[in-house]
Amino acid sequence: MLVTQQKVLRRFWYPVIPAERLADAPAPFTLLGTKLVLFRDAAGKASALIDRCCHRTAKLSQGWLDGGNIVCPYHGWTYAGDGRCTRIPQRPDGDPGKGIAVEAFRCRERHGVVWVALEEPLRDIPDLPEYDDPAYRRVFEFYEPWDAPGLLIMENSFDNAHFAFVHKASFGIVDEPEPVQPRLEPHPAGFIMYADVPVKNPDIQKANLGIASDRTIRQYEKTWWMPFSRKMKVTYPNGLVHIIMTLTAPIDDRRSQVIQFLLRSDSEAEAPAENLITFDRQVTHEDMAILAACDDDVPLSMNGELHMPTDRPGLEMRRMLAKLLAEHGEAEVRRDGPVSQPLASAAE
Ligand code: FES
Ligand SMILES: [Fe+2]
Repeated sequence: MLVTQQKVLRRFWYPVIPAERLADAPAPFTLLGTKLVLFRDAAGKASALIDRCCHRTAKLSQGWLDGGNIVCPYHGWTYAGDGRCTRIPQRPDGDPGKGIAVEAFRCRERHGVVWVALEEPLRDIPDLPEYDDPAYRRVFEFYEPWDAPGLLIMENSFDNAHFAFVHKASFGIVDEPEPVQPRLEPHPAGFIMYADVPVKNPDIQKANLGIASDRTIRQYEKTWWMPFSRKMKVTYPNGLVHIIMTLTAPIDDRRSQVIQFLLRSDSEAEAPAENLITFDRQVTHEDMAILAACDDDVPLSMNGELHMPTDRPGLEMRRMLAKLLAEHGEAEVRRDGPVSQPLASAAE
């Protein structure tokens, strides 16, 4: 599936930038191939406009902010957060008159993240009650582009069979490749997966978790936020809760922008954020190296790849995305063109 070719994917909220990174300068962002400029308007509200001035197409993201309006770097036409042109400096008094505007997109701030929807969203940004719960501290991990599409990142996140191989240097148990089978349940955001997985507990994790043994059990509760984000809640035998939020936005058909942060039930004194980030970075780098070398055009049908029982969460994602396309009258588009078979059967 090529995400830029599937129109219905424009109808979701995507996490484009951590809210605190959007301060007093405009930021460019490419979402599903659409070039945007993000900035805070006069009221401090996060705003997203097309990154293309309606005078001579200059990039507004190369401009600057003036009282919460964005100034085009080419001739100074100025736009408010809703896209309205507020000033044309070449005119008497700068008055732009009425009706001059650039395209503006829906833009919201939630869970410490700025979200953008290119068209009317089909569903709301999912709830994340732990974000505002004082029982959890927040640890920002990273904000960066990955050379992999969101579906590949999501399938990897819900794949119990890769730990013994991809994560053999971090938490995977090399000698025990037989994976734990996941249990899936419906969830308004997508689905939820449960699995209790034995893992290696290296020294850094012994300190991070306050668990002295060489092995431990991760009680996984992973929620897929359709289409390309996840909440991974891990509960350890000592009651510690480690939630990894991995929020991804599709840049184009291959790349994703990834925001990752933690919600932890312990304190900084018990486990310094720096050490949590060090371990999680090792794990994510292990995944990134594999994903960047996989085919990016993930098929939604069962054909074309072979499967095993632990692939079920990924196959469920494919099935639900195929159903979404079918419901909106779209064929899946792949590199060699639209899939001729309508996806109705996939919607069963
Ligand atoms: S191109 Fe933006 S003001 Fe001319
Ligand atoms: Fe992984």
